[in-house]
Amino acid sequence: MFRLASCVLVFCALVPAADLTGTWQYDQPGRGGRGGQPGVPIVNTFVFKSDGTKFTGSWITPQQVLDIVNGSIKGADIAFQTSDDHSTTTPRVANYTGALDGDQLTLTAVMGEPVGRGGTPTTITAGATRVASPEQAALDEAIAAARGGRGGNGGGGGRGAPAPMVLKRVSSETAFKAANPHTPFAPFKPIPPNGLAKTPPMGWNSWNKFAGRVDDQAVRGMADAIAASGMRDAGYVYVNIDDTWEKGRVVEGAWAPGRDKDGNILTNEKFPDMKALADYVHAKGLKLGIYSGPGPRTCAGYEASYNHEEQDAKTWAAWGIDYLKYDWCSGNQVYQGAEHASAYRKMALALRGTGRDIIFSLCQYGWLDVGEWGAASGGNLWRTTGDISDNWNSMSRIGFDQQAGREKYAGPGHWNDPDMLEIGNGGMTKTEYQTHMSLWSMLAAPLLAGHDVRTMPDYIAEILLNKEVIAIDQDSAGIQGTRVGRIGPEGYTLEVWKKPLAKGVAVGLFNRSLDTARMSVKWSDVGITAANPKVRDLWAHRDITNAATDYSVNVPSHGVVMLRVE
Ligand code: GLA
Repeated sequence: MFRLASCVLVFCALVPAADLTGTWQYDQPGRGGRGGQPGVPIVNTFVFKSDGTKFTGSWITPQQVLDIVNGSIKGADIAFQTSDDHSTTTPRVANYTGALDGDQLTLTAVMGEPVGRGGTPTTITAGATRVASPEQAALDEAIAAARGGRGGNGGGGGRGAPAPMVLKRVSSETAFKAANPHTPFAPFKPIPPNGLAKTPPMGWNSWNKFAGRVDDQAVRGMADAIAASGMRDAGYVYVNIDDTWEKGRVVEGAWAPGRDKDGNILTNEKFPDMKALADYVHAKGLKLGIYSGPGPRTCAGYEASYNHEEQDAKTWAAWGIDYLKYDWCSGNQVYQGAEHASAYRKMALALRGTGRDIIFSLCQYGWLDVGEWGAASGGNLWRTTGDISDNWNSMSRIGFDQQAGREKYAGPGHWNDPDMLEIGNGGMTKTEYQTHMSLWSMLAAPLLAGHDVRTMPDYIAEILLNKEVIAIDQDSAGIQGTRVGRIGPEGYTLEVWKKPLAKGVAVGLFNRSLDTARMSVKWSDVGITAANPKVRDLWAHRDITNAATDYSVNVPSHGVVMLRVE
């Protein structure tokens, strides 16, 4: 018995740590998504570098690059954490375990709430609340299923039973190698501003409401309603078609090409004549925007601009396009992380080459400190987070928690973009939509409405058409507002924000708690030095008297009091 035990111990000590080193792949089946987009298989690439019993690496999906940290190997068993350092200012950490069997690695997410770095509890709502692209939604579902949450893929998934991901080793490479070639970039050189977007762009975008159902008729209807409702005159001039206008896509499992014999990009049957549509929109005193990306496919799996950048820019200019949202998605299949800046710069130069004024909107979810290089790459705005969805948690987490520290990158011509508005889509209360509008304005964020303007109720029009709040967003100084103080438990805080204006300061008193709260602000704390300043409540549309040095007011749960003080 003693001998057997010691043999087992000796044997255990001699088992070498598994060699994880290399590139691994997990192909996740695609599925149809919001608006009936085709299912496109999602490639997840893992690169691992092991060093004895420890390892590090990256997990690359079409929409995320996760750092793999704290990897440990015991025999054939591994454990690691993922951290989404690249995508948010508050990294979220999740735990995984795995079992290695030759060139096959089975990964399972560890159940339970992941823990934010530094012991701060954070909540991952991936897949639970967000309405994202089909790829992201499917990925979220797989992750949720692996964590024992909703979803499941029929392979033992379901509540309480994590569904494993089975990875295959595809090479011994330890650096992520993109699948498609591209001509190497020359060393990065900043390009000068294009002179557009001196204030944050305003308009409408199809994705939040219509996703894959957007078509020519909807866009014309929206242009009519934007003009008739007063939105155009309030500044909402860009009418932007998001993903799914392109012809190239998977139809019944086969790729239906999206370019003509000369490589010109084609529209699908939903957009029979893009030039005619642009003429229509222009005739309404509005501008037309479009969508593509640097990889071979868009996020919804349609034809994108890889290897056709100049040609596509010319096509769009010929159609009369005024705005381009350029979405990374399959960019990981072409470019390495550090090449983001050059890949965006390439399209910026192609747009400039057309001679047409086209606003350039970068969409790569805030990775790689995009504020550091977004403007130098020719961007007028850049997304700072993953996709917003129409609920309080998503909106408030993005707006209150994920923008801090990015304010230094915003200014006339180049803006942080915390994603489009959900106002009017039905998932939040009137009070919450007022907070959404106020917070985005304090952030000097682009104001791109995302609802069906044709059926907009009056109370939604009142929110979107509040000219006093819009003026805060559009202030010529172009300074992004910041939080000056907060109290209360995380997620339920009372927060005071300020935004310096060309003349005066905007002040936001935000109540994230579940009860009405009494909130106070001293003018000296928000940089107002004038004695007895003029104070205006921008939602009540009235001047406030008796606020010589400070102001106290009741703020409803999830609500805001927004002031202009000068
Ligand atoms: C990504 C973007 C969204 C939208 C979709 C379209 O998810 O972040 O804003 O453009 O792609 O597929």
